Amino acid sequence: MERIKTGISELDDIIGGFPAGKTIIITGDPGNGKTIFGLQFAYTNCLEGKKTVYVSTEEDAPELRQQGKSFGWNLEAIEKKGLLNFVELAGYRAMEIKTALSISLEAVKGDFTQFLDNLPVDTNILIIDSLGSHVSNLTSSEFRDRFNLLVYNMSQKGITTFILLGGVVSREFVEFALFSAYGAIQLMKRENPYTGRRERVMDIVKMRNTKTPVQLLSYEISSKGIIITSPIDSSD
Ligand SMILES: Nc1ncnc2c1ncn2[C@@H]1O[C@H](COP(=O)(O)OP(=O)(O)OP(=O)(O)O)[C@@H](O)[C@H]1O
Ligand SMILES: [Mg+2]
Repeated sequence: MERIKTGISELDDIIGGFPAGKTIIITGDPGNGKTIFGLQFAYTNCLEGKKTVYVSTEEDAPELRQQGKSFGWNLEAIEKKGLLNFVELAGYRAMEIKTALSISLEAVKGDFTQFLDNLPVDTNILIIDSLGSHVSNLTSSEFRDRFNLLVYNMSQKGITTFILLGGVVSREFVEFALFSAYGAIQLMKRENPYTGRRERVMDIVKMRNTKTPVQLLSYEISSKGIIITSPIDSSD
């Protein structure tokens, strides 16, 4: 199976990269590094020549560029090369912005079908940051249908899709997304039972077709972005 870099080199060593052309979801409470993971994934793969569309519902492009810059990633340079395309759907600006892709606000309100038709045909990677309050008005069956359709269609097109799920999404929706996606990683903070200090850990909840560690992986948000520090024994 073709693999694609996760953006975190230690994670590539552990799982051998993400399965290409599939949907991977990242869940986690605010501040756990979902956006940073998304940007790191985008940046790393754009450097490899992969065409990436980054749909942001939370922050606008200048904020994301600034966040990247804080880790030494020159996102503007890869945008200029046409490899990275930010689609801003943040707040009121979403109403006014005419993007090259003409994705309407409806798309992130849960009508994912909009994405399917408007993505450039040569897109390799789609990142949705994030599915949050926009989907809270949907019924369970609406959410399931739309999520499934997105996963299915992106898989048909061979587009690796990275969906960041915010803390505001109902537990039921998260459970369904975990079930439906090809892979899922949860970002958390927890107290290390040995040191008593709080630390960041990630749980590779699932990754089909991939050998994954059972134990939680500790990570840090360093000056170069997310790095895996040491694996933690799951029996603690
Ligand atoms: N340059 C930096 N160096 C180190 N840590 C940073 C840096 N920039 C941000 N952080 C850390 O990353 C956290 C934010 O991560 P991020 O925005 O990716 O979280 P998120 O999961 O997307 O949150 P939200 O749900 O609010 O969107 C900050 O709270 C801070 O702890
Ligand atoms: Mg975020």
